[in-house]
Amino acid sequence: MVQALDRATEFRFTEDDFQWLRLVANKHSGIVLADAKRNMIYSRLTKRLRQLNLSSFSEYRQLLDGSDSREFGEFINAITTNLTSFFREQHHFDHLAEQTIPELVMQPRRERRIRVWSAGCSTGEEPYSIAMVLEKGLSKYPGWSYDILATDLDTQVLQRAAAGIYTEDRGSNLDGAILKRWFQRGQGCHSGRIRVKPELQRYIRFQQLNLVQPWKVDGPFDVLFCRNVVIYFDKATQQKLFDKFADVLAPGAALHIGHSETLHQVSDRFRLAGKTTYRKLG
Ligand SMILES: C[S@@+](CC[C@H](N)C(=O)[O-])C[C@H]1O[C@@H](n2cnc3c(N)ncnc32)[C@H](O)[C@@H]1O
Repeated sequence: MVQALDRATEFRFTEDDFQWLRLVANKHSGIVLADAKRNMIYSRLTKRLRQLNLSSFSEYRQLLDGSDSREFGEFINAITTNLTSFFREQHHFDHLAEQTIPELVMQPRRERRIRVWSAGCSTGEEPYSIAMVLEKGLSKYPGWSYDILATDLDTQVLQRAAAGIYTEDRGSNLDGAILKRWFQRGQGCHSGRIRVKPELQRYIRFQQLNLVQPWKVDGPFDVLFCRNVVIYFDKATQQKLFDKFADVLAPGAALHIGHSETLHQVSDRFRLAGKTTYRKLG
């Protein structure tokens, strides 16, 4: 109890500090920090204050306000929520395997390549799960290939995604055959870790991309996963974003969004095609 009190009062965190930080966060990332996030912001940022040897939030604000863009990146990394897992929301991966892949390989196309974008990929479990499904699904169709663009705003999670190294418990929901096929088990000082095999990484390109700032990607994509990302954005930001998404998707492309997200009153350029799964119209 004494320890908790000490922690809570270690740095003075005023209403003005919180309002300023949430405004800056929202302007840059689209993330709306609700009042309920006050304690989370305090505890995540106090770590930065300690690391930087600062004595108050007003010093931290000055640092962010200045030209030190490196700290700005750290600030954004600290406010993002990166929860993810392999094959999270399994039904999207079933849809990809059972509907999207068989449909796409039957289409007359210029190129025998399926193009996927994982937007807000966090630590990489999502694009690696997509790659595992594509590897298996396309093995029945000689000459077919794929590529995956995996993007996130947070540079720290992207680094971890590109490394593809996880603690063993992150892979505990994967079945033994999948683990054996696509992961190496760490030995010696790496024991307790699993590492994605390079052959699963070869068609994935990790890149930093802020969805609410002007961006340009090379479409058209056949599949877009943007799950559990826009939940933190307001409606107007979501509307703009899904309009831009529609512009870079092929007609009929599959869009997968998070379990508590919807396109209702957000975009009329998609039709519902399953649980939190849409198809681009046109
Ligand atoms: C909760 S994770 C979701 C990960 C994965 N899509 C899933 O559903 O398992 C949300 C991710 O969105 C990213 N994010 C938040 N705002 C973003 C923005 N403006 N541009 C790009 N990525 C953003 C965060 O950094 C975080 O990694």
